[in-house]
Amino acid sequence: MQFKDKKIVIIGGSSGIGFAIAKAAIHDGANVIIASRSAAKLAKAKAALNNAVETYQLDLLQEKSIKAFFEHVGPFDHLQLPGSEVRFGNIDSLSTEDAKYSFDSKFWGPYEAIKLARKFLSKSGSITLYSGAASQKPTKDSTILTALNAAVEALSRALAIALVPIRVNVISPGITMTPLFEDMGKEQVEKIFEAYKPSLLVERFATADEIAKTAIYLMSNDYVTGSLNLVDGGMSVT
Ligand SMILES: NC(=O)c1ccc[n+]([C@@H]2O[C@H](COP(=O)([O-])OP(=O)(O)OC[C@H]3O[C@@H](n4cnc5c(N)ncnc54)[C@H](OP(=O)(O)O)[C@@H]3O)[C@@H](O)[C@H]2O)c1
Repeated sequence: MQFKDKKIVIIGGSSGIGFAIAKAAIHDGANVIIASRSAAKLAKAKAALNNAVETYQLDLLQEKSIKAFFEHVGPFDHLQLPGSEVRFGNIDSLSTEDAKYSFDSKFWGPYEAIKLARKFLSKSGSITLYSGAASQKPTKDSTILTALNAAVEALSRALAIALVPIRVNVISPGITMTPLFEDMGKEQVEKIFEAYKPSLLVERFATADEIAKTAIYLMSNDYVTGSLNLVDGGMSVT
């Protein structure tokens, strides 16, 4: 029960990696609040967590919505920011508008959330941002994703210094089986797997629970800040 009496906020906690963090943190005794845009997804997640979680409807693209959320939450201990929606494509196929949308969702959304969360976040608490393996390993199709994930990693390093004593870290997941991928269908997932097979030293995609383990470690180890945590099955070294 390492998180007994701790309040953990997970923006993007209704699905995938965020949901797995909620499950693990509840197991470790935390009081968990998950937030995301869709009421239906939040209700489904709450039922799957046996109602042991508080839910809140919030859009990271809406400053007012984030402000009202943190005023509702009040003082808390750890902020997890896996919530985002990115649009995929290469420099030709992805419109600039969609590229900017990805930055709004995955960079500016968490940035705004951190700004508005600060006065409520415990001085002995932590923030965890989420980038992705494309930051270390660009592909022909990842131009914006590589730049975006690298920007999130740089933001995390800079915030670790700017927000002392609050600890700030970033997790870079490799390809992880969450609705982000599962929704593409089996055939497309197999195609992606074949393309990435030579880079996956562990010869499979990650599970959300494996990424969540690192999130739990970052919240519980008071000596870790400013760190980049690659949980990518070895992709970055191949
Ligand atoms: N899965 C992978 O292979 C992978 C690889 C590298 C990096 N990552 C990164 O890891 C993080 C988590 O990924 P995941 O696979 O767990 O994604 P996911 O299953 O698609 O879940 C994303 C979560 O974010 C919420 N969300 C999306 N846009 C939001 C917004 N504007 N405001 C508030 N909540 C929002 C979603 O709920 P609503 O739709 O209800 O808002 C959902 O709860 C993301 O940043 C992703 O880019 C994932």
